[in-house]
Formats: sequence, C-alpha cells, structure tokens
Amino acid sequence: MPELLDYEPVVFAPARGEPEPLSPVQENILELKKQRNAIILAHNYQVGEIQRVADFVGDSLGLAYKAAEAEADVILFCGVHFMAETAKIVNPNKTVLLPDMEAGCSLSDSCPPEQLAAYKEKHPDVYVVAYINCSAGVKALSDVICTSGNAVKIVENIPEDRPILFVPDQNLGQWVASRTGREMRLWPGSCYVHILFTVRALEQLKEKYPGAPVVAHPECTEAVRDLADEVCSTEKMVGFARTHPADTFIVITEAGMLHRLHREVPEKTFVAGPTENCACNECRFMKMNTIDKARDALENLQPEIVMPEEIRRAAYQPIKRMLDWSR
Ligand code: 13P
Ligand code: SF4
Repeated sequence: MPELLDYEPVVFAPARGEPEPLSPVQENILELKKQRNAIILAHNYQVGEIQRVADFVGDSLGLAYKAAEAEADVILFCGVHFMAETAKIVNPNKTVLLPDMEAGCSLSDSCPPEQLAAYKEKHPDVYVVAYINCSAGVKALSDVICTSGNAVKIVENIPEDRPILFVPDQNLGQWVASRTGREMRLWPGSCYVHILFTVRALEQLKEKYPGAPVVAHPECTEAVRDLADEVCSTEKMVGFARTHPADTFIVITEAGMLHRLHREVPEKTFVAGPTENCACNECRFMKMNTIDKARDALENLQPEIVMPEEIRRAAYQPIKRMLDWSR
C-alpha cells in the first residue's frame, strides 16, 4: 500500500474567466438533440463535458421526476442502467437511450431478483423498501422505492406494524435506521465506490484543510459518515455548499460531483474525497458513458432501453408511491 496521501489532493478552485467554447462533438449533440426532439438528462457523476450539454443534471430523485415529466420523443439518459430503466418505467412511450448499455452498478448487482423473491417467500410479512439503485425486477418485487434524497421521509411513512426489509444498500439502510429510529433488516449490498473512502485517508486530508466542512454520501461506511458535517444525497450537497458560510469543502462521493458543484457554486473550492490509494474516486460504470458515445446514441437512436411490459407495470407501482410520498 502506498504512503497515505502520497498524492496531491484533487481540488476544483473557484472558476475564473469565460467558460471554454463547446467542442465540435458537443455542438453536434445540441444539433442532433433538436433533430431528434430529445431531452438530455445527466447524473451528477457524469463527466463535465456531458453535464455541460444536458438539459438537466441532478440526483436520482430529480432525474426520476424529470423523466416522468419529459415531453420530448427521446430521452438520452446519461447515467447508469437502473436510472435509464427507471426513466422508461415512468415514461414508457418515450425512446430512452443509454450511451453505454454496459454501464451497470455494483450495488444493483448485489441484489438479484430471484434472491429477493426467495427471501419474500420465507418472510411474506416484510415491507420491502428498495433503494432506487436496483433492477426493474427488484423494483417489481418491492413495496416502495426510495433514493438517498428521500429515504428518511419514505421510511417514516411506512406503517409501524410492518417489519421492514431495506435493499440493497446496507450503509444507506443503516443511516436511515439511525435517523428514523425504525428497525430494519438490511440486505448485505454496498457500493464498491463509496466503501473505498477511509477514515485514515479522510483524517489526513482534513489536516491539510482545517475547518473545511466534510459532506458525505450516505452510501459511505458509518465510520466515514461519522466524520462528516453533513450526510446527504448528491443534490443536497449543492444546497449545502451554497448556503454554508465556508469557502472550502471536502466532498466524499464520486468525483464527477465536483463538476456539478464547481458549476453551481463557482466562487467556492471543492476537494475530492480520498481513498487509501488515490486522491479521488470514480465509478467505472458512470464513466463508461463518454461524450462520443452520447453523440452516437442520439445519431443512431441506440442503445435503447426495453423491458417486458409486465415487469414495467409491476415496477411502476412502488416508484409511483415514492413520487407521491416525496412531493
Ligand atoms: P444520488 O441519488 O444521491 O445522486 O446517488 C446516486 C448514486 O448512485 C450514488 O452512488
Ligand atoms: Fe452504483 Fe456506486 Fe456507481 Fe452509484 S457510484 S452507480 S451506487 S456503483
């Protein structure tokens, strides 16, 4: 293992001067968007060049609402598979494109629908709360969906007399249980990106930036969350940075988030959360989408999200419940 912090922190300093002009590929995307009557939705972890051409950049909850409301013929979804799948579930008459069909999610993979179905058969009384980072098959077996932005509110709405099973993220589940006081059985899944942040690496970074508030995603381990000043969804990180009086923040989540923060709060400084081996941490699935693949998807109207209507309909019910409960 290399010496801790044997690397320069990744820092997004305040923005100065005019933004870079758009590249030919970015210009091409804006042109194709008009021709295809498309809308581009991008998650906060996408590369900066994709975020720049998107109509909306946000967290899973904001993206689900935008997808449901979209009126364009085509939704180019720059995120991972379960997010694009959710867009198709809530707005089935649209053509939903994902630049790279291999852009999956380790957390989603940790809960196969067959295993959840087997658990439910043995425990028919459980109320299943599924974090949105799961497949359509798992959603179809769940009672309600939540995101990191509304998980506390969703769990607070569940009837007191029902035992809760929270899938698939044990870290988020543990955080929600501690915030709501509700006992929950936790599926043993985790995000391979967020569990790489360590207390040791974070403490060393805090020494370099004394007084900088730490904001962490709830998918981080409890030990890391305990060092944070704020634990919240990626969208809420923007509001936290905007309203907090500090001018420098340590951000413990996937590094794409720094692009969003830098654009929305350009006068402040953001430092990426470190792991044992690296100054920042990227999700390999999120980064499978590139600006060239986004352009090709709009040009070819492929790769397209498709799913059996029966699964889509069953998966829609718990998503609809979430959207209604979190308004
Ligand atoms: P948010 O909904 O907070 O953006 O989180 C999505 C995600 O995949 C975190 O790893
Ligand atoms: Fe999934 Fe983790 Fe990547 Fe989010 S960061 S998409 S939870 S693997």
